[in-house]
Amino acid sequence: MLQIQQNVSLKNFNTFGVDVKARYFVEINHADDLVELFMDPQWHQIERLVIGGGSNMLFIEDFDGLVLHMNIRGIEHRINHNEVFVEAGGGEVWNDLVNYCVQRGFAGMENLSLIPGSVGASPIQNIGAYGVELKDVFSSCKAFEIATGKFRTFSKADCEFGYRESVFKNTLKGQYIIVSVKFDLSLTANLNLKYGAIEQELQNRGISEPTIKDVSQVVAHIRVAKLPDPSTIGNAGSFFKNPVITTAEFEPIKQNYPDIVNYPAGDGLVKLAAGWLIEQCGWRGKVVGNTGTWKNQALVLVNHGGATGQEVYNFSSLIIDSVYTKFGVTLQREVNIIG
Ligand code: EPU
Repeated sequence: MLQIQQNVSLKNFNTFGVDVKARYFVEINHADDLVELFMDPQWHQIERLVIGGGSNMLFIEDFDGLVLHMNIRGIEHRINHNEVFVEAGGGEVWNDLVNYCVQRGFAGMENLSLIPGSVGASPIQNIGAYGVELKDVFSSCKAFEIATGKFRTFSKADCEFGYRESVFKNTLKGQYIIVSVKFDLSLTANLNLKYGAIEQELQNRGISEPTIKDVSQVVAHIRVAKLPDPSTIGNAGSFFKNPVITTAEFEPIKQNYPDIVNYPAGDGLVKLAAGWLIEQCGWRGKVVGNTGTWKNQALVLVNHGGATGQEVYNFSSLIIDSVYTKFGVTLQREVNIIG
């Protein structure tokens, strides 16, 4: 029997540590729990929110609906010659899955070490770090369609992955719940070391022929040095996306700011480093009330303790305004704003 609780604090279910309440809350431990839940028509009418690790959301008020906390577990793998097929429950912690693979020598996920959040959330925004994105290892996922009560398999093409984007955030938003994800990995490492900080740190450690374990450890080291640990300082990783603009828009900015950090983004487009833009506006490490930006990475907004979601949100608006005033570039929030 499913247990539906009422007025549940979500403080421990969002990495920002914002203290809001959910009117209804249910823990989903098996895919079939979803079938059971949505057999009751009342849950079709009400606003719903699916939470995995709660690591990419900011609540600005109590949630007057049903929160589904995804807790479907299990990791399995099958090896065929050099290929490794891994399947994981959506409620598994992303980094536990990465460790499972790295420990067994299954290559492909090492650059994605220590990203907070759950496996089920990983396709939604096509998580990525240090030159690798989820789509590089993704094979397919199984999702529950709320309207019909049926399960559907999504191939990589079906997911329409883009930079921190997928079909689940766009045309199919709110319609499906991911219950498990399959990955294609390999027993042969094909290391992606093009990210400068990785090479640097490998050199510092005197490692010239790195294994996937080395890369995983180095990535974890870089993340820990740059990003605040949500278990001590509430945050949701990068708060904004790195903006992508046209080369025509970029040229005049580059003339005024020759040092601007930028990366080619194909098709006459340029990606800017939002952290750099924010730092140039003087925000890095600033504390404003209970919130602020992280001292080592201005793209990360933090809860220094007791911040409300509204406070963090208002602060993010100040940043958007000042980046726009200085550079004429509009930052978009990467974190989901709930409320
Ligand atoms: N920078 C600054 N000041 C800052 C922050 C960054 O000048 O305060 C400069 C850095 O020196 C560097 C550039 O901006 O030249 C890029 O910084 P970084 O390498 O830290 O990466 P990022 O573009 O800010 C993205 C992802 C991160 C991911 C890293 C590493 C987005 C929105 N963020 O950050 O992902 O870990 O690359 O690959 O794409 C997340 O999405 O939550 C996240 C943490």
